[in-house]
Amino acid sequence: MLTAGPTHEKIDPVRFIGNYSSGKMGYAIAEELAERGAEVTLISGPTQLHVTHPSIHKISVESAKEMYAASMEHFDTMDAAIMAAAVADYAPENYASQKLKRDGEDLILRLVPNPDIAASLGAIKEKQILVGFALETQHAEANARKKIEKKNLDFVVLNSLENKGAGFQTDTNIISILHRNGEQQDYPLKSKRAVAVDIVDYLEKSL
Ligand code: CTP
Repeated sequence: MLTAGPTHEKIDPVRFIGNYSSGKMGYAIAEELAERGAEVTLISGPTQLHVTHPSIHKISVESAKEMYAASMEHFDTMDAAIMAAAVADYAPENYASQKLKRDGEDLILRLVPNPDIAASLGAIKEKQILVGFALETQHAEANARKKIEKKNLDFVVLNSLENKGAGFQTDTNIISILHRNGEQQDYPLKSKRAVAVDIVDYLEKSL
């Protein structure tokens, strides 16, 4: 199972809070898994991407809460779950069913925390391998290791925004894989498709 893409947190019928995730990394991993014979459940936020492989079963969601519900529903039959989505940490407390009108005053939008999907799966996981992503702008390795503990992950794929060619909206990525047993593997700049091969190789070793 994979989560991928951004989430959109609705403010009113025409506006949302989102992020720059394209979904490319998650979709590339889904393709690689399917090509190796896996049945893949891809839980995807709004993206421009399409899947072609018949073994990828896509579930489209919009918000973090919908992604959480779909992930919780399917997790128990999975061998592994890869959390590649850029989930919004907060959502507007209230959804306005009519378009908010401009009245010239300051507009205060109160945000409330979304569920942490990876941590929720980490809390209930049995034999599944749980893989997280970490996107850090500072103290990357220390923060990534904290996420392993906090979310009960088996390993984390770290991409640092300090690196050119890594992260959102690019076709390339530079990753390190940090395992909960202390192991660390650093990889050079590659296309996201080639990075997906490295991640799936590492996952296969862990199964
Ligand atoms: N994640 C998730 N649900 C959330 C937030 C994050 O499943 N509500 C997952 C992401 O898919 C990713 C990992 O947790 O695999 C780490 O995401 P990141 O945004 O780096 O971490 P946060 O927990 O949001 O921590 P912070 O924003 O403080 O860095």
